[in-house]
Amino acid sequence: MITLFDPNTDIDLGTPARDSQVQVTLKIDGRSISVPEGTSVMRAAALMGTTIPKLCATDSLEAFGSCRMCLVEIDGMRGYPASCTTPVSEGMSVHTQTPKLATLRRNVMELYISDHPLDCLTCSANGNCELQTVAGQVGLREVRYGYEGANHLADQKDTSNPYFDYDPSKCIVCNRCVRACEETQGTFALTITGRGFESRVAAAGGENFLDSECVSCGACVQACPTATLMEKSVIEQGQPEHSVITTCAYCGVGCSFRAEMKGDQLVRMVPDKNGQANHGHSCVKGRFAWGYATHPDRITTPMIRKHINDPWQEVSWDEAVTYAASEFRRLQQTYGRDAIGGITSSRCTNEETYLVQKLVRAAFGNNNVDTCARVCHSPTGYGLKQTLGESAGTQSFDSVMQADVILVIGANPSDAHPVFASQLKRRLREGARLIVIDPRRIDLVDSVHARAELHLALRPGTNVAMLNALAHVIVTEGLLNQAFIDARCEGSDFARWREFVSRPENSPEALGPVCGVAAADIRAAARVYATGGNAAIYYGLGVTEHSQGSTAVMGIANLAMATGNIGREGVGVNPLRGQNNVQGSCDMGSFPHELPGYRHISNEVIRAQFEQAWHVTLQPDPGLRIPNMFEAALGGSFKGLYCQGEDIAQSDPNTQHVTAALSAMECVVVQDIFLNETAKFAHVFLPGSSFLEKDGTFTNAERRISRVRKVMEPLGGKADWEGTMALANALGYPMHYQHPSEIMDEIASLTPTFSNVSYAALDRHGSLQWPCNAEAPDGTPTMHITEFVRGKGRFMLTGYVPTEEKVNNRYPLLLTTGRILSQYNVGAQTRRTDNVAWHEEDRLEIHPTDAESRGINEGDWVGIGSRAGQTVLRARVTERVAPGVVYTTFHFPESGANVITTDNSDWATNCPEYKVTAVEVSRVYHPSEWQKRYQEFSDEQQRLLDERRQARAAGTHNEGRR
Ligand code: SF4
Ligand code: SF4
Ligand code: SF4
Ligand code: FES
Repeated sequence: MITLFDPNTDIDLGTPARDSQVQVTLKIDGRSISVPEGTSVMRAAALMGTTIPKLCATDSLEAFGSCRMCLVEIDGMRGYPASCTTPVSEGMSVHTQTPKLATLRRNVMELYISDHPLDCLTCSANGNCELQTVAGQVGLREVRYGYEGANHLADQKDTSNPYFDYDPSKCIVCNRCVRACEETQGTFALTITGRGFESRVAAAGGENFLDSECVSCGACVQACPTATLMEKSVIEQGQPEHSVITTCAYCGVGCSFRAEMKGDQLVRMVPDKNGQANHGHSCVKGRFAWGYATHPDRITTPMIRKHINDPWQEVSWDEAVTYAASEFRRLQQTYGRDAIGGITSSRCTNEETYLVQKLVRAAFGNNNVDTCARVCHSPTGYGLKQTLGESAGTQSFDSVMQADVILVIGANPSDAHPVFASQLKRRLREGARLIVIDPRRIDLVDSVHARAELHLALRPGTNVAMLNALAHVIVTEGLLNQAFIDARCEGSDFARWREFVSRPENSPEALGPVCGVAAADIRAAARVYATGGNAAIYYGLGVTEHSQGSTAVMGIANLAMATGNIGREGVGVNPLRGQNNVQGSCDMGSFPHELPGYRHISNEVIRAQFEQAWHVTLQPDPGLRIPNMFEAALGGSFKGLYCQGEDIAQSDPNTQHVTAALSAMECVVVQDIFLNETAKFAHVFLPGSSFLEKDGTFTNAERRISRVRKVMEPLGGKADWEGTMALANALGYPMHYQHPSEIMDEIASLTPTFSNVSYAALDRHGSLQWPCNAEAPDGTPTMHITEFVRGKGRFMLTGYVPTEEKVNNRYPLLLTTGRILSQYNVGAQTRRTDNVAWHEEDRLEIHPTDAESRGINEGDWVGIGSRAGQTVLRARVTERVAPGVVYTTFHFPESGANVITTDNSDWATNCPEYKVTAVEVSRVYHPSEWQKRYQEFSDEQQRLLDERRQARAAGTHNEGRR
């Protein structure tokens, strides 16, 4: 879907829509129109195709009424009201074009132009500047006051932000940027300083944008009607000329974007105001951090080598897949059918993920397929399936706007799901109450105009105890929604659960000390959640990545059922998914025990359907999970791996264990865009494609399936799905799809929850939330409305079992890990963008008390040791973490955060316990032994890669594409 670029494609109606059942009829320039009550005169006029000049108004922001450009005449009303701030009323008669209005508007425009540099021809906004457009609309021909705007030409430009510039000489002080930062983003980083002609925009909290509180979301840039705030890429490349609608490839919010192009060059990403997950907003990653896609580190030619200490050899695609296939077949002949497996990627499309699991089941002939969801949200799949009957969140993001109480547990939306965080903060500013349960004082606890009423800073590893204590209060204080429970849930399971949580050992008084939280605060939180109206729970990896991750997910579902907070807008159980397509990769059958649509591989009827469609016999038993693959590799029975778009050597826990397992394999095939940490152990490298280089779909955290559309040709010659197809064909299993839409058609034909999904339907609807089938042809925004997917909801017992990872004299601190806004997951993409301006290394957060007792100061190098390993990072001394807790991110491989994490894991799903590692921290002066070994190994691998490059430069190897 390529559209010629036209700034009016998304017509700006001037003010936001109003939601009212009451229609008001008025006349504008003699023509009648009916609009919802509360609509502005400006919007009503725009809806009937009448343009009223405007500068300070835009339909993403509430009207401000400062520019006086949008004046109209209204019969019976004195003066010339601003149409943006005047609501319609029944019978109103409005005149938008009169001689007097024309004069007034020209006068106002004269004042603006007199204070504006008239360099339109060389201005970066030329052709897409609202000031220029409105000057034309009002017919300005002369300026009587001279061009005093020259006075501002000497104003200093602020070029500190890596992605956009601020040129104060062009500012018309319309306040749109300030309001965008407040209303859309919720950061409140901008103010207007000075008065009259001297008024200008200033970023608060720093000398310039980069040092300020600005989080570089770009909302102000998008809102600015002039070239004052402008993307550097547009300044350098010029205005784009056509655009393609696609979906962000970073987090589980799944923001929709217009990729704006000039020829085949991407100029900028603009969040799509019709995007149903983001409504025209974005964060710094999606909007700006796309430069990695053309980074010089991209590897665009297939490579092979016999051993990992051999130089890489560039080959054609045919040679690479033929070699990989022959190695896989050799390994199966030598070590058995189950000696190989595959890992799908939550960064790849649904269609690509589906193909990888199909390749493993049909061409490898086993079920050894797993996905990175194993290490993040596998407990969500298990826990929600057990209780509610479906392995997915229950709501749309928009549902939060109906919530009265929002409980955030083990999630940090401002950093990990920023666009949803903006929406959540908007709801908080409207008056919703917030409870945060998290060991860290995350941004939401105390942000501008949005504060948590209660922050329960529990000890890492005690979520289940906390959830049981909350349930105890709800049950024993008579706060249950008995009518809901009686009508919707299994009675015997509920009775068992009620008896269990009522026990004194589950009271806040008993479990508060375990959690490190006052019993009174737990009681207060339970009362607010149970009695505060619509209550919604949002949770993240701080819930799942524990030895009792699945138990905690079930505990959350229990709370929602016990209080009747499920099955309508404003409530529900909402897992905030980490990577862009975690939901999709799980839906597509990436787990070893499940075929697409979460159907167990042992189910003969289901298996027969796939066998018929795929023309193979499928194995009935679940295959190996990722940790089992590592164990089997170290045990000598697992020898080959096809890993698409994941970096298990960096992302999985206990790095030394993972790298030992990879080293023990004889054929590791990595398909990726960079030589990532896993690829350093690979024997075959297949060039991957970025999200800009392929068609497909992603499914976000609200089950929303959105199109990914090709913006440019794959740099490596094949999109990832084409690479998988080539490998399947080389293995002798035919795959002949012409386009990913055919793969989706196959998915829809085999997966009941997807049966009405097709590319045509997605183009028609924009996006679709599954289940999308005959019963729900337009998709399902809210689940479990009249009954649960499993019929009756099932309360599950959630006994608290403390993790084996305990503090002791040797390891007295608890390490917990997480993400920050500017970086993404293993950082392979964001580290190769200017986002490093905000985060160029992982640091260890430590409380001042713990730092002082160890003689550690801000910025010191500190050694962190656990029973799994040791690494060294620099310290950040902060009260964001409680005493006894330390925290770090894992975005840089050399940090070795996962050298320290252990291989403890969730009892039900093997999801690693990233969030709880007992450690000791001390002041050091040298890198750890692991870091030295890592550096040597990486340098060697870089040399082997560089030799390949030098060989190519010398012309000793073929170019090798295709
Ligand atoms: S980029 Fe975002 S956070 Fe920064 S000033 Fe603009 S709107 Fe505010
Ligand atoms: S920077 Fe742009 S949006 Fe902000 S006040 Fe100036 S002209 Fe308006
Ligand atoms: S919130 Fe997530 S999906 Fe949206 S732009 Fe940011 S990273 Fe992309
Ligand atoms: S657009 Fe109405 S006052 Fe500015």
